Amino acid sequence: MGLLWGGSARARVFAAACALSAMAMGCGDDSGKGGSSAGGAAPEGGSGQGGQGGAPEGGGPEGGAGGGASTGTTFVLVHGAFAGAWSWDRVTPALEAGGATVVTVELPAHGADETPTEDATLAAEDAQLVPADLDAIPAAGFVPWLKDRVRRHPAFKHAYYHDFIRSEATPVDLRRYLVQESVVDGRFDDLLALLQLGTDGATKLEIAENYWDEMGNGDAAQVHTLMFSRAMTALAVTDVEMREEMSAEGLLSGNLAMLLCRYRETYPEAVGFLAVTEWLVPDRFSQVLAGWNRLGLDPAGIEYHDAHIAIDARHASGWFNNVVKPGADSPSFRSTRSRMPAGSDPARRSTPGPPAVAPASAVDWNMDSIRSVLVGSTY
Ligand SMILES: [Fe+2]
Ligand SMILES: [Fe+2]
Repeated sequence: MGLLWGGSARARVFAAACALSAMAMGCGDDSGKGGSSAGGAAPEGGSGQGGQGGAPEGGGPEGGAGGGASTGTTFVLVHGAFAGAWSWDRVTPALEAGGATVVTVELPAHGADETPTEDATLAAEDAQLVPADLDAIPAAGFVPWLKDRVRRHPAFKHAYYHDFIRSEATPVDLRRYLVQESVVDGRFDDLLALLQLGTDGATKLEIAENYWDEMGNGDAAQVHTLMFSRAMTALAVTDVEMREEMSAEGLLSGNLAMLLCRYRETYPEAVGFLAVTEWLVPDRFSQVLAGWNRLGLDPAGIEYHDAHIAIDARHASGWFNNVVKPGADSPSFRSTRSRMPAGSDPARRSTPGPPAVAPASAVDWNMDSIRSVLVGSTY
């Protein structure tokens, strides 16, 4: 079983791969929690750890056990998502008996590695940042720059929506789609509630207005998460499907959203995450609506998506103007980032104190004043 990490920031593919026929020897996922399959690249020479796991040089391990065919071969075994180096406990002796050298990798926050999952997740995200990209962020006009970057991202007008969902998807496919969507859309109000802490002024009002929309503007039947659940009900998505059809990518997206909104130190990233989410919804949901209508499915079930084509166009505009722009104009945000990777200069990790004069933006003041209270909290 190998692990592939690939793709671009915020759209990272997180795919577990069964790359060795050793799986047939019972190595793998006794827990039944393994990820989806994908091919793996063969490591050169096999002496290093890390990198992309996959089929080892010199062929599979078929001849390894007892046959001596693996003598001199080094296998680097990388486990998949939700697993650990323990995955290989029954494989390693068999390979070694054939004369092979075996190196097993414990990925961060997996198995015996005690790195907190959130730290490992953020480190993996940081690793995808390209310094030159950060340097290219303009001093002014951040919002147009951001939109341009998003337009050039593979997720923008993706063929999954424009071709598949719109023209080809079956009801079963739409059920799978809703399962993936549930991890963000199904809890979007909670993300906003977390993000609002410590903001002020136009930013706080924008988040509050967005949140009130999520609450159906006081109409219990129009609470957005409830509207979303009606789509699930219309297609009779079951609890078993919620568990078994959820992809690792979907889980990553939902957990990353909650992580970023939860901590003040990741506030800038959460702002961007939600901005792009709101901005891409109208086009995405237009394709879902077209697919739903093509299949002649219950109109009551598409209410959430239909309504958000207009709602999120408004949300995106307000968010860019009142949440993203004040953040982008904030000196503390622009000091690079409010969060710095572990190992960076501690002086750069600390945040500026409250300004001696009126703050440049309400965000500056409040982020500083509540950071010590909220960072690391477990609410
Ligand atoms: Fe909503
Ligand atoms: Fe929205």
